[in-house]
Formats: sequence, structure tokens, C-alpha cells
Amino acid sequence: MLPEFEPKLSAPDFAGWFGARAPEMGFGAYALEIGFGGGEHLAAQAKAFPEIGFIGCEPFLNGVAKLLGQIEAEGLTNLCVHHGDARDVMAAMPAGVLGQAFLLYPDPWPKKRHHKRRFVNRENLDSLFRVLMPGARLLVATDIADYANWTLAEIKKHGGFVWRARQRADWLHAPSNWPGTRYEQKALAAGRVPHYLEFTRRETILPGAL
Ligand SMILES: C[S@@+](CC[C@H](N)C(=O)[O-])C[C@H]1O[C@@H](n2cnc3c(N)ncnc32)[C@H](O)[C@@H]1O
Repeated sequence: MLPEFEPKLSAPDFAGWFGARAPEMGFGAYALEIGFGGGEHLAAQAKAFPEIGFIGCEPFLNGVAKLLGQIEAEGLTNLCVHHGDARDVMAAMPAGVLGQAFLLYPDPWPKKRHHKRRFVNRENLDSLFRVLMPGARLLVATDIADYANWTLAEIKKHGGFVWRARQRADWLHAPSNWPGTRYEQKALAAGRVPHYLEFTRRETILPGAL
């Protein structure tokens, strides 16, 4: 199934990434999930929102296979699956096409000398800013408090996204109808606390603003 579901990056328009599965007029909106793991969240979102075209990226082959199994079982058609790095997909994407991007439980890289490997960084925020449209939603979930602080610091430095949270409940409660992820289940079982950091893409970049 993978060749059929890999995004057709050379298609003349963005809907063409979905090949013959794209509706004639394209999807109503588009969303990206970076590092979907076993694809539980992505498959649930695609099922709940058939009018949205979802693009999922994951280098871990067993996770890709697991998602394809869910796609087949549910008969989902509004998805593209990239077996590989999300950075390559964002680089190939036209500007301003996405209404949402999900980065759920990115690898925490806890050692200080590995922090530079964290997905939330200047370069990837630049790419996300480019492919998200103004007003689009960026959701970063993490169970590592240091990664949550890191994310807020990087977002503030970047200045392309607004964080609308005002109280603890805003980042400690999952968004409504949240399907969860496999990693999240493990984190909860281990007593760790998920943080849901929800951002809105600004019209223009204001470095230092959150
Ligand atoms: C801790 S796991 C979380 C998986 C899933 N989001 C979940 O919550 O169950 C992080 C995932 O990000 C993937 N990943 C890491 N770097 C990536 C990249 N550059 N592009 C796409 N996925 C990436 C890893 O392969 C891994 O599956």
C-alpha cells in the first residue's frame, strides 16, 4: 500500500499529492502530522474529519506499517503517508497550504549535548511558518517539562506564533475529542504529565513575541 499512499511530490497542484484519492476540487483543508509513531492519532483524525487531507510523516517503518493497517481496516482515503523525514515533506510543500500541524511527543533528547537534535528549532519553525497559513494551528504535545519550556522559548525567539494559553488548565487539558497517541498512553502509565501547547501562526514574524 505504501507506494499508493506516498505523497506524489511532483504533482502539479497540492491536492495531486493524494493522487486519485483527492476529491475533484481538492480537500477543504490540509493538516500535517510530524512523527506519527503508530499512527493512532492520525488515523482517528482522518476518520473524524474526512473533508481534511492529512499528510503524515514517520521514518519508523513498523509505525508506517501500523498506520497502513488502520487505513485499510477503516477504508480511509484522505491521507498521504511519507515514510521518512518531515523536513523533506515541508521543503516540497507549497507555502501557506496547511490549516494545522501536529507535533506529538517529539523525541525528547534529554541530554544537554543532544538538545540541538530537538525537532523544535529555528529551522523547523521557519519551515512550519512557511507551510502553515496565517491563523493556522500548531499543536505541540510533550510529557517532558523541559521540552515544554524549550518549545516556549524557541517559539518566543522565533516570533511567528502566538501562544493563547492563559491558565494551567489551557496546557494541561487535551483538546476536545482527543484521540491520544501510543506514546502518550505510556507517559500517562509512567505517571508523567502531558502538556498540550497550542499556537496560532501569525501574519508576520515578530521576534521575541509569544
Ligand atoms: C517519541 S515518538 C512519538 C510518536 C507518536 N507521535 C506518539 O505520540 O505515539 C517520536 C517519533 O518522531 C519520529 N521522528 C523523529 N524525527 C522525525 C522527523 N524528522 N520527521 C518525522 N518523524 C520524526 C520518530 O521516528 C518517532 O516515531
